[in-house]
Amino acid sequence: MLSRRHVVGAAAALPFLSASPLRPAFDEMPSLRAAAASRGLRYGCAAASYQLRDADFRGLLAREAALLVPEYEMKRSTLEPQRGNYDFSGAEVLLAFARMQGMAMRGHTLVWYASNPPWLEDAVRARRDERLFTDHIARVIGHFGKAVPSWDVVNEAIWPEHGRSDGLRRSFWLETFGPSYIDSAFHAARAAAPQAQLVYNDWGCEEGGARHDRFRSATLNFLEGAKARGVPIDALGMQGHLSAFAAGIDAKALGRFLAEVSGLGLAILITELDVDDSGGPAGVAPRDAAAADAAARFLDIVLDCPAVTGVLSWGLSDRYLEPPSWRQRLSGYSPRRLPFDRDLVAKPLNRALIHAFEGKPASAR
Ligand code: G3I
Repeated sequence: MLSRRHVVGAAAALPFLSASPLRPAFDEMPSLRAAAASRGLRYGCAAASYQLRDADFRGLLAREAALLVPEYEMKRSTLEPQRGNYDFSGAEVLLAFARMQGMAMRGHTLVWYASNPPWLEDAVRARRDERLFTDHIARVIGHFGKAVPSWDVVNEAIWPEHGRSDGLRRSFWLETFGPSYIDSAFHAARAAAPQAQLVYNDWGCEEGGARHDRFRSATLNFLEGAKARGVPIDALGMQGHLSAFAAGIDAKALGRFLAEVSGLGLAILITELDVDDSGGPAGVAPRDAAAADAAARFLDIVLDCPAVTGVLSWGLSDRYLEPPSWRQRLSGYSPRRLPFDRDLVAKPLNRALIHAFEGKPASAR
């Protein structure tokens, strides 16, 4: 649980936590939070504690999001940089802000092949002891307790292109413990948080084409097997990283997949929605329009599935996207993946999200 010291620590960030009155820097659109709520859904987004020093962004975040997820400050590389020495400070600043603004909080992520501290993989391969992740799960869930009611327990464990018959990703977790590490992680999370929503989070099931078909098949096989073994998975997190100029949405394949996942008794969360607008024309207007269209077509199918309970975007504004590569800068490209631009002005993608929440089909917009 959060100790008094921890809360005092987070409170030291208090000047960052109040939401200042908004600059009139965005269209007078309904908030994403209100539009989603009108459909019985929760909208939220990823954020990082350093972003809360930006008063304008803080105000927009407080207006738009009903749910927060740390973009990286609950990952093991940030929480446990040295073995056994935990630093929850960044996550606690985000949690204090969420509490102050009446937002819920999601936890991301407890077991992943990436964003681990440098000491972990060697320790896992040498000791081959499941406590190297089950103890971490218990420690982190125990620290936040009921303040974090939903967790991405295992992230991105599926990768059909690694050629395994079960479609799982070859990682140091899998190579050391075999596929059962996933089951053990969920059982450890359930033991630590009997009431929490336990989520398997991944990407690759969203768009059309043979690669995504293989991903959907492998994900379904994994979820069916896990449910049959009594693994306590409550929901599938579909990350929702879309492309504005690639394969596009196969409405039938996506709709069928969502129906089959919900047929397993699982809820579905869209956990990391954004739209990669590279690879198309250079102009901002056509890129923004294509990104909005891609999101609209995806959400039209997704929001028709009653098992979908929430949509989170992987950030709220382009302001905090990683800077473009030198090659991209040479072409003048700067990513525009999120609902608000770098000046916190609503983009067509924002309107597409609102219209989707309000039930206006893509064709009617
Ligand atoms: O650690 C520093 C911190 O000290 C500093 O204050 C801060 C601001 O400059 O940056 C921090 O650095 C990096 C951080 O991104 C912010 O840019 C972290 O070292 C780096 O690991 C982190 O990368 C994150 C990445 O996952 C790996 O964790 C990205 O923000 C995040 O967008 C990305 O998100 C992943 C999801 O977790 C899983 N799905 C795919 C998604 C996109 O790759």
